[in-house]
Amino acid sequence: MTIVINMRDVVDRKKIRIAARSIREGKLVAFPTETVYGLGADALNENAVKRIFEAKGRPPDNPLIIHIADFTQVYELASEVPEKAKLLAEKFWPGPLTIVLPKSDKVPYATTGGLDTVAIRMPAHEIALALIEESKRPIAAPSANISGKPSPTLAEHVADDFYGKIECIIDGGETKIGVESTVIDLTTDPPMLLRPGGLPLEEIEKVIGKIKIHPAVKGKPVDLAKAPGMKYKHYAPEAQVIVIEGEREKVKEKIKELIKEYKAQGMKVGVMATGDFYEADACFNIGESEEEIAKNLFKALRELDKDGVDIILAEGVEEKGLGLAVMNRLKKAAGYRVLKV
Ligand code: TXA
Ligand code: MG
Repeated sequence: MTIVINMRDVVDRKKIRIAARSIREGKLVAFPTETVYGLGADALNENAVKRIFEAKGRPPDNPLIIHIADFTQVYELASEVPEKAKLLAEKFWPGPLTIVLPKSDKVPYATTGGLDTVAIRMPAHEIALALIEESKRPIAAPSANISGKPSPTLAEHVADDFYGKIECIIDGGETKIGVESTVIDLTTDPPMLLRPGGLPLEEIEKVIGKIKIHPAVKGKPVDLAKAPGMKYKHYAPEAQVIVIEGEREKVKEKIKELIKEYKAQGMKVGVMATGDFYEADACFNIGESEEEIAKNLFKALRELDKDGVDIILAEGVEEKGLGLAVMNRLKKAAGYRVLKV
């Protein structure tokens, strides 16, 4: 049985306490954050954490992010807290930034996927913070999707993947940012961007200086990726995604051409692009600004899948600001099928 708690309008502490009790009992609770929905469990309870991996079908070496509600919790989870971590937390927490630090003995290896480091973030969402506070536990939470599927930005997406399989889903409406947090490894010098996300790299560099970009961020994943999450199939809908990048008008022309080509082959074609004036079988208008596109991205992939299309033609964006995260997710969803025009 899955309890769905509707908290779209007001945050009800009494109901949060019911969900918090489940966390303390080692059960799974899905909850909204400002980025995407998370599938939460007590980060320090090995059995609870193992349930997350089971429910998602997630490879056990892909580590989880631990969510906290107060900076002092970092000292419980990390064995060293460098100055840069304090600077970043001061400036960006609560917010869509995850930092990787050396782990403390308290954190089970089940949570860190066997690594000696731990990923920590403080989410900027009233429900998430209240749940962490009320459960009095740090909460490990990957995105609340079956491993490999697009991340959930609505409680309905979570229910599609987990209804009947987890204890509780807290419905807080649509998530604001739509792509996951930016992950920065502070155990290396210079620090390394492991995953672009809701906080643009440019903003982070203003605070701690130059950051190295992991080679897998923009291109094909390398074998020994530092973030184990990089090496798995990700964000992939059932349909084959093709990303078309280049100058706006040329991209639009190419999409029109490809629609005809694939339709002639008897395929059902979907398009996700700015504007929805295409003669495809299904179109998702992804929006104009970086913010809109990030927010709509995963929903578009899920909806086009529901439309039953065979192929999704996706318009690329410039790899700066939030665009770096958007292209990273799109390329993965496409299995790196990127067409430059
Ligand atoms: O916005 C988000 O970060 C969402 C919400 C729910 O907070 N969570 C999320 O979790 O996206 P997940 O598990 O889907 O992605 C976690 C990412 C993976 O790429 C994983 O490899 C990386 O963080 N990660 C976690 N711990 C790590 C560690 N110790 N070292 C390197 N990478 C780590
Ligand atoms: Mg995920």
